[in-house]
Amino acid sequence: MEKEYLNDLPSYTDAVRPWLDRRRKRRTCRLLAIAFLAYFAFSTYKIANNTRKLESTLSIEKLRQDHSVCAALRRVPVVSSAARDYNKRWINGTKPLLIRNATIWTGEPATGTSEEDARAGKGYSWISSDVFVDRGLIKKIGADISIKSLPDDTEVFEAHGRQLTAGIVDMHSHAGLGSVGNLQDDVNELSGDITPYVQSLDGLDPLQPEFQFIKSGGVTTSLILPGSGNNMGGEAFVVKFAVGKQNGRTEISQQDMIADPDRNWRYMKMACGENPKRVYGKVGERGPFSRLGESWEFRHALEQARDYVQSQNEWCAAADATGAENMATYLPQTLQWESLGAVLRGQVRLNTHCYTIPDLEAFVRHTNEFKFRLYAFHHAHQTYLVPEVLKRTWGGTPAVALFADNMYYKVEAYTASERAGKILYENGITPTYVSDNPVLNSQHVVFEAAKAYGYGLPYHAALAGVTSAPAELLGMGERIGKIVEGFDADIVVWDSDPLSVGATPVQVWIDGAASFKDPVELKKPIEPPIVLDQSLGKDTEKKEIKGNAIFTGISNKYLDGSIATYSSSNKAVAIITNGSISCIGPCTSELSTAQASNAPTFHLKNGYITPPFTAFGSSLGLVEIDAEGDTHDGPPPADGITRAVDGLSFGGKQLTTAYEHGVTNAITAPSSGSIDAKGISVGFKTGAKHSLEKGAVWEDEVALHYILTLTAKGGQTPSISSAISLLRAKLLDAVDDLAKNETSTTAKKDIYDEKSYLKRVASGSLPLVLTAHSVDTIASIISLKSEIEAAISTLTSSTASRLNIIILGGAESYLVAPELSAANIPIVLAPLLPHAQSWDQRRGLTGAPLTNGTAIDALVAAGVLVGIGVEELWETRDLGLLAGIAFKNSGGKLGFKESLDLVGGNFGKMLGLEKKDTIGREDSGKGQWVVWEGSPLEIGARVKALGGVGTAFVWD
Ligand SMILES: *[C@@H]1O[C@H](CO)[C@@H](O)[C@H](O)[C@H]1NC(C)=O
Ligand SMILES: *[C@@H]1O[C@H](CO)[C@@H](O)[C@H](O)[C@H]1NC(C)=O
Ligand SMILES: *[C@@H]1O[C@H](CO)[C@@H](O)[C@H](O)[C@H]1NC(C)=O
Ligand SMILES: *[C@@H]1O[C@H](CO)[C@@H](O)[C@H](O)[C@H]1NC(C)=O
Repeated sequence: MEKEYLNDLPSYTDAVRPWLDRRRKRRTCRLLAIAFLAYFAFSTYKIANNTRKLESTLSIEKLRQDHSVCAALRRVPVVSSAARDYNKRWINGTKPLLIRNATIWTGEPATGTSEEDARAGKGYSWISSDVFVDRGLIKKIGADISIKSLPDDTEVFEAHGRQLTAGIVDMHSHAGLGSVGNLQDDVNELSGDITPYVQSLDGLDPLQPEFQFIKSGGVTTSLILPGSGNNMGGEAFVVKFAVGKQNGRTEISQQDMIADPDRNWRYMKMACGENPKRVYGKVGERGPFSRLGESWEFRHALEQARDYVQSQNEWCAAADATGAENMATYLPQTLQWESLGAVLRGQVRLNTHCYTIPDLEAFVRHTNEFKFRLYAFHHAHQTYLVPEVLKRTWGGTPAVALFADNMYYKVEAYTASERAGKILYENGITPTYVSDNPVLNSQHVVFEAAKAYGYGLPYHAALAGVTSAPAELLGMGERIGKIVEGFDADIVVWDSDPLSVGATPVQVWIDGAASFKDPVELKKPIEPPIVLDQSLGKDTEKKEIKGNAIFTGISNKYLDGSIATYSSSNKAVAIITNGSISCIGPCTSELSTAQASNAPTFHLKNGYITPPFTAFGSSLGLVEIDAEGDTHDGPPPADGITRAVDGLSFGGKQLTTAYEHGVTNAITAPSSGSIDAKGISVGFKTGAKHSLEKGAVWEDEVALHYILTLTAKGGQTPSISSAISLLRAKLLDAVDDLAKNETSTTAKKDIYDEKSYLKRVASGSLPLVLTAHSVDTIASIISLKSEIEAAISTLTSSTASRLNIIILGGAESYLVAPELSAANIPIVLAPLLPHAQSWDQRRGLTGAPLTNGTAIDALVAAGVLVGIGVEELWETRDLGLLAGIAFKNSGGKLGFKESLDLVGGNFGKMLGLEKKDTIGREDSGKGQWVVWEGSPLEIGARVKALGGVGTAFVWD
């Protein structure tokens, strides 16, 4: 049967005969030459050892098909700026749209601006204009576009002067590859280190709710990358976040999400450094075990792809010369090396996760050894140290995709700098800002750009870092990322300047279709764009203030019980004397005394004086590098209770950074790096040198902590119910112990026993902090509290009947806000804005325009005492900005002082620490002060000076 089939196929001689017949006599010499050439070509490629087949069994049809593949192999994508009549993603039926009276950031400098000026930010401005959109394209930008000139069915959106930008582009996201609640994970194909052949698209789930809430942050387009577990992770895809009829599409599909229906470019993800070593290295069995092995893996794969490309090129050249029919083999094709071959052919935009100099430099060598272009290094926390290395990359300098200030979490990120974006930009390298969703919630990727601006990257470059720069890097710079006629109509109208704290879209359009049917709009005044602060990039040095110092330009004072605003005509100064504030206000006589003593004077623009911030619930002081156990105190033991004070480490970058951002106090419980802590927390000063320094530890036993999140499940408590049962039993035992009213003192060590702490909890003298996210667990805690309090109230000896329970985490707490308020249980939100990172956080509110407010709004409205905690260490520095988000997006429900208290004063209230300075111990905040340049709740605020308790420092 097989033989019969083979005989049906045209033979090699059949295939060449007509050609031979016609030209036999006149072309003998040429035939010989071509035959020689063909023979030469055949013999040079690897599978050529079976070419001497005069009776060829190959299909002429397939050979011709193969030959047509050659054109595709040679195709080099170009970024087309040709005018389009319509956007290929446009759905016929989407109505034309006129956005009226917007303040537009086009993303382009004014015409005629030189390249040099544009780089410096000159020529960029916000313009007042209307925008007309039709067929998925921005058709017209101009002032006062007459509705009469537009199609009858045009819909009108009044922007009321609000800011309008292009849709945000996040070029590092894994959205849709893992499921909400972290139940499924299709991010990494961990079957092998070299998997360039897998495609992220195959795992993309269009139904994931995250597409909707990410888009509610203005993100319209993303590069969906495979993870970084493999040296070669696979192909990536650019998608737009419009899914199904609710978003103006006709279907729910992966294909419908592809941003470029023509698929002009392909994309790939690679990764260097710690991840692949950690995932694969096994001594004596498999690599890569070290960076040495990783480079071998890269080179070995690239070598095979290079040989593959060469064999194809030779086949195609021979087929061109002799005709496909005359080929003795088919075109070499194997899926394994197809995509990597396309990288070497320049058809793929490669993005590589690399942090450190050895990784960056090795990868730059690989690009030169194998001649392929890299478009961006991602994470890339050390790139700012080596711009010249990046410039040696083959094919052009890659861009860098960064977080603004998420750093120190692993050794590779321990040398990172908040100034990276600024430094790279000054060195001619493009910074972009990315989420690595779900590492950061992509919904807030614009906040990364905002912080980068705050750390000194020029405004236009920061905004470009989430719009036009990634668009260009994706090869779509002529279609998305700017508001330009002819571009895709991916548009965001914001409720405030996009690089200000809490900026939230009012509406988002993708290809001209509105994304939100009934968008929730936050109550905010309509304000012009922020005034650019040119001094943000200035480097400062920390110096001790000895004696007196004068700060001029104070505009606001928010110290305990003392709030004042000073106008520009009524300028205020602050005078520091021996670490303390001796006067704020006009201070006429104090000023002349200080000036007479030659006190240094520091001039501020818009100076604020506030109490310092407190980091609550983080592992600050117990963990330095999250991924490195040696830098931790270690996890709390399964049995018994330990005290964080016994494991505290001072110094280090985490504490220094917190301190320099005005977070001078921390309350930390034993944990190995999350809010899931168990044991006795300590209150301490982040700026202290060691625990014996005066006031360094201001409270060595703040509260008793237990875990009731998903991490509670394990060991002796396999379920949440068993964890709650155990806690109930312990607390009831404590009540019984109280009933026994043991006055005789037991052994000294028993004071540090779990039972002893629980007794203090039951007697109301020690707060109990429970980490919990699920509303059902929180409801159980509310019931447990009343049960225990009822038991306590039966004690005749009982003086206190209040069990002081505080919930840390609280993602779903808003669902029982009135009940929490009635039960007098405060909530410390950590994170402030949960986004379904785990199953027990899945009902977290992600905010406008998708949801009516977030958890904090409902809690505050119900009268619950709220704090903002720290979930991940790096966030400590952003406590002021987080309070700022709560403030700006509260619709006026939270005042400025109340917002500062979310990260300061409220912890004192919750924990009963307000009177600390009256009981002979160092204070937990009273007497301490921070002088800020700019509002501490806004982007760009800098700590200018801080002090209290005898010492003060200035950054100048
Ligand atoms: C859109 O659909 C309408 C109605 O089916 C049709 O008349 C029109 O030609 C279509 N427009 C385009 C540009 O395809
Ligand atoms: C644009 O909006 C602003 C703010 O609402 C308003 O003051 C102004 O009159 C509007 N301009 C036009 C042309 O409608
Ligand atoms: C418990 O002890 C306190 C003081 O030690 C005492 O005043 C009180 O009466 C005792 N209560 C009972 C029920 O024994
Ligand atoms: C949002 O919630 C607030 C109460 O927190 C309520 O007053 C308001 O009407 C709600 N808005 C919408 C659009 O549901």
